[in-house]
Amino acid sequence: MYFPEKEVKLKDGRVAVLRSAKPEDAADCLEYLRVTATETPFLLREAEENDMTLEMEKAFLQARLEDPKSLMLIASVDGAYAGNCGLVSFGNKLRVRHRCGMGIALYQKFCNNGLGRILIENVVEVARELGFEQMELEVVVGNDRARHVYESLGFVPYGVRPHALKYKDGTYADEILMVKTL
Ligand SMILES: CC(C)(COP(=O)(O)OP(=O)(O)OC[C@H]1O[C@@H](n2cnc3c(N)ncnc32)[C@H](O)[C@@H]1OP(=O)(O)O)[C@@H](O)C(=O)NCCC(=O)NCCS
Repeated sequence: MYFPEKEVKLKDGRVAVLRSAKPEDAADCLEYLRVTATETPFLLREAEENDMTLEMEKAFLQARLEDPKSLMLIASVDGAYAGNCGLVSFGNKLRVRHRCGMGIALYQKFCNNGLGRILIENVVEVARELGFEQMELEVVVGNDRARHVYESLGFVPYGVRPHALKYKDGTYADEILMVKTL
């Protein structure tokens, strides 16, 4: 869905611009996926596993824009791509259409400045307006900053998925499942 440009103020006083991603953002999105995968162990893929071509990413972003129940909200600071927060539905089947999922990641240099909280607050508001009743997410054990933000926004843990991630060195990480009533 379309989200018009909106300016928000960060903790350090800088302004971030939020808006829905467009096909023209494809190259920035691919670079973001590659770099953020190297910056944190808390995302689902390795850097070399981003195998979307530019054309595929453009089509993906166009589809997100046209899907009335989905949002890819991107943020830029001083003209630079800072990160994004995505809202996805669980589909149109009667028994699950009240549920949505959320995912977020920022470039490391834009973390800890209030942007993550603001992005999630905006996506929660959109989800409410779309009629979703609950928002669900997973957070890797040890990702204390993300967990703090989620809990302070009303997400509640309801379970643990053991060995959800397996790293290249053979170690595992569990995920905490969280839900927020909208
Ligand atoms: C998780 C993430 C989206 C949060 O966004 P952010 O902009 O960095 O977070 P904010 O600045 O809005 O808020 C951070 C809060 O966590 C607190 N915090 C920072 N480090 C912390 C830590 N190690 N443990 C607990 N709390 C911490 C801050 O004090 C702040 O609290 P406050 O809002 O009560 O003052 C962002 O850090 C990120 O993209 N991280 C890398 C990718 C990732 O982990 N994505 C989530 C996958 S589930």
